[in-house]
Amino acid sequence: MTSKPVFVLNGPNLNLLGTRQPEIYGHDTLKDVEDLCAATAREAGLDVRFHQSNHEGEIVELIHAARMEGSGVVINPAAYTHTSVAIRDALAACEFPVFEVHISNVHRREPFRHYSYVSDVATGVIAGLGLQGYAAAIRALARIIPGRV
Ligand code: DQA
Repeated sequence: MTSKPVFVLNGPNLNLLGTRQPEIYGHDTLKDVEDLCAATAREAGLDVRFHQSNHEGEIVELIHAARMEGSGVVINPAAYTHTSVAIRDALAACEFPVFEVHISNVHRREPFRHYSYVSDVATGVIAGLGLQGYAAAIRALARIIPGRV
């Protein structure tokens, strides 16, 4: 185990996963995402802290906590991807790897979802793999967190 955990952060409306537009986001719930992240992190030898918030400032504060206490971030900023300079700036202040994850392929959707304030400050971006995007990001983090390769 690394001593510092990986933070998995989820933005607004992701608490509704499973019932929210299942034709786009599927039937799995946020608890399923959390369980998948926990299992993937365990296999990779990482500790994980999992959060969801509908509030921009709270997500900024979670990123600050990750910056102090964590070794990497996997974030699905949800709608804030397309609007939030504050979340972008908080991520830009992190010196560890950051992966942006989207359950859906945002590039196949409405034009306003094609722009991300986060992508160019992220280490990597995963979209359209469903829940497996979170697992892929955690596995990638396990390979690139300093001292773990
Ligand atoms: C999302 C895509 C965003 O455009 C949307 O606002 C979300 C979820 C995704 O995981 O596919 O809430 O981030």
